[in-house]
Amino acid sequence: MANDDLKALIRTIPDFPKPGIQFRDITTLLLSPAGLAACIERMVAATDGPVDLVAGIEARGFLFAAALAVPLEAGVLLIRKDGKLPGATIAEDYALEYGQDRIAMHADALAPGARVLLVDDLIATGGTARAAIRLLRKAGAVVTQAQFLVDLPDLGGAAALRGDGLRVDALVA
Ligand code: PRP
Ligand code: HPA
Repeated sequence: MANDDLKALIRTIPDFPKPGIQFRDITTLLLSPAGLAACIERMVAATDGPVDLVAGIEARGFLFAAALAVPLEAGVLLIRKDGKLPGATIAEDYALEYGQDRIAMHADALAPGARVLLVDDLIATGGTARAAIRLLRKAGAVVTQAQFLVDLPDLGGAAALRGDGLRVDALVA
């Protein structure tokens, strides 16, 4: 599937969740068997080297993490909003436009040195992805790559991650 066809499957909802925001809605791409298959195929092809775990960020990141982990023969590690995971967790705070949020993972989810690929549906400011990388590294993970379906380049998140030395791949911008 051509890149423009993939892009055409993502719709834009104006003024969601707030006036002035052009929300890129990937649910329409998920409804397309060919679109979904093309995404996963390309993410597999873009993966650099062997991976022990694919870490997905709540909520839409989970979908891509699980689908990608199967062909990569990796496990799936859940990064969730704080307070959702049942076991002992470690957490990391990050800044939002107004205020703060906190994400968490199970403290025993990975062995030190595990090679972890970070995956989410979209990168905007990169605040969420950078907090996820800090969290994974705090747990002892080796994180060298992050993959996204959508990059919103005007918000600078992918550039910031690259500035941190990460390999960043996004299917559409
Ligand atoms: C969205 C998106 C990323 C994050 C990107 O998630 O799925 O996780 O925002 O923004 P950032 O690069 O500026 O940090 P959201 O917080 O809407 O959560 P959801 O997937 O649970 O709806
Ligand atoms: N779409 C989905 N998630 C998002 C967006 C968007 O446009 N911006 C920040 N998170």
